[in-house]
Amino acid sequence: CGIIGYIGEQLARPRLVAGLQQLEYRGYDSAGIALADDELAVFKQVGLVADLDLPESTPQTCGIGHTRWSTHGKPTDANAHPHTDCSGRVAVVHNGIIGNYDELRASLLDHEFRSETDTEVVAHLLEDELEATDDLREAVGAVVDKIEGSYALGVVAAGYDGIVAARRNSPLVVGHGEDGNFIASDVTPLLEHTRSVSYLEDGDVAHVTREGIAIWNEGTPVDREVHTIEWSPDAAEKGGYDHYMLKEIFEQPTALRQAIAGRIDPIEGRVELEGLSIPDGFLEGVDEIQFVACGTSYHACLYAKQLMEEFADVRATVEFASEYAVGSGRNPERTLVVGVSQSGETADTLRALRMASRVGIRTLGVTNTVGSTMARECDDALYIRAGPEIGVAATKTFASQVIVLAMFALTVADVRGELDPRAARKLLENLQDLPGAVQSVLDNNDAIEEVADAYAGGEAFFFIGRRLGGPVALEGALKLKEISYDHAEGFPAGELKHGPLALVTEETPVLAILTDGTRPDETRNNVKEVQSRGAPVITLAAEGYQSDDEVGFDVPDLGLLEPLVANVYLQLFAYHVADSKGRAIDRPRNLAKSVTVE
Ligand code: G6P
Repeated sequence: CGIIGYIGEQLARPRLVAGLQQLEYRGYDSAGIALADDELAVFKQVGLVADLDLPESTPQTCGIGHTRWSTHGKPTDANAHPHTDCSGRVAVVHNGIIGNYDELRASLLDHEFRSETDTEVVAHLLEDELEATDDLREAVGAVVDKIEGSYALGVVAAGYDGIVAARRNSPLVVGHGEDGNFIASDVTPLLEHTRSVSYLEDGDVAHVTREGIAIWNEGTPVDREVHTIEWSPDAAEKGGYDHYMLKEIFEQPTALRQAIAGRIDPIEGRVELEGLSIPDGFLEGVDEIQFVACGTSYHACLYAKQLMEEFADVRATVEFASEYAVGSGRNPERTLVVGVSQSGETADTLRALRMASRVGIRTLGVTNTVGSTMARECDDALYIRAGPEIGVAATKTFASQVIVLAMFALTVADVRGELDPRAARKLLENLQDLPGAVQSVLDNNDAIEEVADAYAGGEAFFFIGRRLGGPVALEGALKLKEISYDHAEGFPAGELKHGPLALVTEETPVLAILTDGTRPDETRNNVKEVQSRGAPVITLAAEGYQSDDEVGFDVPDLGLLEPLVANVYLQLFAYHVADSKGRAIDRPRNLAKSVTVE
């Protein structure tokens, strides 16, 4: 999950190790470095950077390093980066997901693979290219043309002068130093050596040598502006953001791209989820899918339940994991329990899954954490590939969970013969457009901050939405209460008049979701109810549902995923309210990221 590279007049190894340690904040489970001169030397293993088993002296002045957070394959020494080709000449570090990894691997039959990672194909493809050219940069250019998905790549080769870097949909910067030049996944590890950096753009391939940095895009030389970074060391730790939570909110476009990479075919309207071993005939025969989860993951399940029922026409239920009981009248052989957990370690969720397993119910774990207890214990595991989440309040993983569950819903629909190809294609198109739509919300951050500051003094905050807006209303309220300690509640909009309306005053801002999939016309009536009691209203509304006489933010056209986009506004709203009050946003009082007690 972190990349560093150095070439220059100094020894490479101390710089790589220090750089990887400065990237530790990104989270990782394994680490490694490759040093290159006429030979290549690679050291990598599971565990901390500080524990890397390195020889006493390493004379090389060129190398790359990586900290890995597992997405393809478990945390093992073999799966750690850098990855090498069969000849041991090339070493590769990579962030991102190679979507067409299966196809590429199948085309490399004469290569011996030593890991379960998608990255290793890059090393083998380079080996083939280097038979035709001695120019590593050209070889990398040819290889990235074959790769689909996202990548930030760093490559070194024995006997080759320089590091070659490439990026698409995964960040990568190059640093211009006094005594050498750098590559890195963010500027944090560069700041003690240089404050002059250039951000690579999608499609860029850079050749980094002792003397300088040359960049090409689609074969044409390009100039990338040199920026001067003026961060405090504290901000640098969080990639320039004041808090991990804000950083993670902003990582959503990347996380979402990673979640769908290689899994969808919008033209055919089909989904291919790797690694599921559900026996033929099982999903066809299932008469109930039970989702179990806690906190934010529970809200993702509430969203997924509706998609599952809509697309696959199968009964789906959602329970708090801590409340789960198998329930009477269920036939274990015709039931699937889906546990959803970012960490894969939440005790309540594990307990529910074990309970189901004990009576013979098949279990599927949907998690962000490869190698977690949930992934190991469930019959099947599906990964959301969001990258590490450090802020206690879950943000980016919510959207990733929902879309992975949406893809699973289409898989179930397909198997059961319920797939409506038009609706499926639309959802998949929306999935593809989601990262861009989320980015458009993030680009509005300053406007949201202004609104949050203006309303932060509210006595309580209410969030309303119907259908798919319901889980998002709950999630919006949870975010706010977790990090600002304000009283916040989410309701299905129609329930407001059955009780909560008694709490509504001029001092209680109401945030309303008015998008596709949320019965916006009906919610509009509820908005009027609270407005007539003097409550300030903030709407998150799709085209046609905005109103000029209220504070509102636009949600782009995205079908059933519009409420997910609205949720990003709510995350930023919660963040800025909490920030204006000086709260400990990344570590709110009394809460833990992963609750391992029941
Ligand atoms: C804790 C966290 C929440 C999280 C919940 C479930 O309570 O504070 O942010 O949503 O656990 O975590 P999980 O890892 O199972 O998704």
